[in-house]
Amino acid sequence: MSNQECIRNLDENDWEKAWTDELGEKKKFTKHWNKDTPKIHFEKIAVYDEYHEKLMHKLRLDKNDTVLDLGCGEGAVTTLIAEKVAKITGLDSSKMMLDLLQQRIDHDKIGNIETIEMKIEDATIDSVGKFDVVLASRSFMGIYDIKNVILNINEIAKKYVFLVVFGRRNWRLEKKFFNSIGKKYSDFAPYDYLFNLLVSLEIYPNIENFDLIGNRKYDDIDDAFIRMKWKKNELDDDEITKIKPFIEENLFLNKEDGTLENPIDKSDIVLIWWKKNMF
Ligand SMILES: C[S@@+](CC[C@H](N)C(=O)[O-])C[C@H]1O[C@@H](n2cnc3c(N)ncnc32)[C@H](O)[C@@H]1O
Repeated sequence: MSNQECIRNLDENDWEKAWTDELGEKKKFTKHWNKDTPKIHFEKIAVYDEYHEKLMHKLRLDKNDTVLDLGCGEGAVTTLIAEKVAKITGLDSSKMMLDLLQQRIDHDKIGNIETIEMKIEDATIDSVGKFDVVLASRSFMGIYDIKNVILNINEIAKKYVFLVVFGRRNWRLEKKFFNSIGKKYSDFAPYDYLFNLLVSLEIYPNIENFDLIGNRKYDDIDDAFIRMKWKKNELDDDEITKIKPFIEENLFLNKEDGTLENPIDKSDIVLIWWKKNMF
């Protein structure tokens, strides 16, 4: 069979299988942040950055809209959207993240954000209702039951669905390190599988790359050791001791702001979005 025929014959079950195969057996549990997640992750993700600015320009929001934010985390995106719409509901399976969001809501006295503690996989019209816009920002990459989740959120959304997922060019330094010790770095399921799955479900989305310019930045070697995705559970003790020397060799001092960075170390983030009822 030629490659063309192969591609033509792939249906939604094949694309779902391709996606879940890539996730791997061991990630079958819901990945969410909890008390074991280093505090620094929470602090850094809360910082308003280039990604948030570009996302806000890409979303299509109306002041009367209701929005469902799947995997809202501590609400860096949720709170920005809240300024532009009538009401936003943040959904997350991590109680700790929702507590942080609630602290923000109370502190800033925000009146139009509600939260739901739930797995994205359990969000259906019956459990959450309908919303004008559904967004999942950087929360979709560990979803196993991807086809059902897509069908559900497509039903929940009245106007638009926006999915922000990772591209193929992330974690290049981590991959270089794994390569240097003769191991393969297991990546997230590629966004192009998601695109093909959507097409096989007769959903024809738009795709845009965020083209983030800024490098990832670290305060010091320890910060890079904690925040970069080293997948330490896949390394033995000897390999873990090699990480810090690798960081020292591969991150450079930015004399302007005193941070450590490397020009190849950027976030590659992709927006997949579609309009409901186009025809
Ligand atoms: C990287 S954070 C993204 C936070 C925020 N959306 C943003 O873009 O800044 C991922 C969040 O998704 C949540 N999450 C991941 N998988 C989930 C699932 N299956 N169900 C519910 N929440 C999930 C995690 O608990 C975490 O709060």
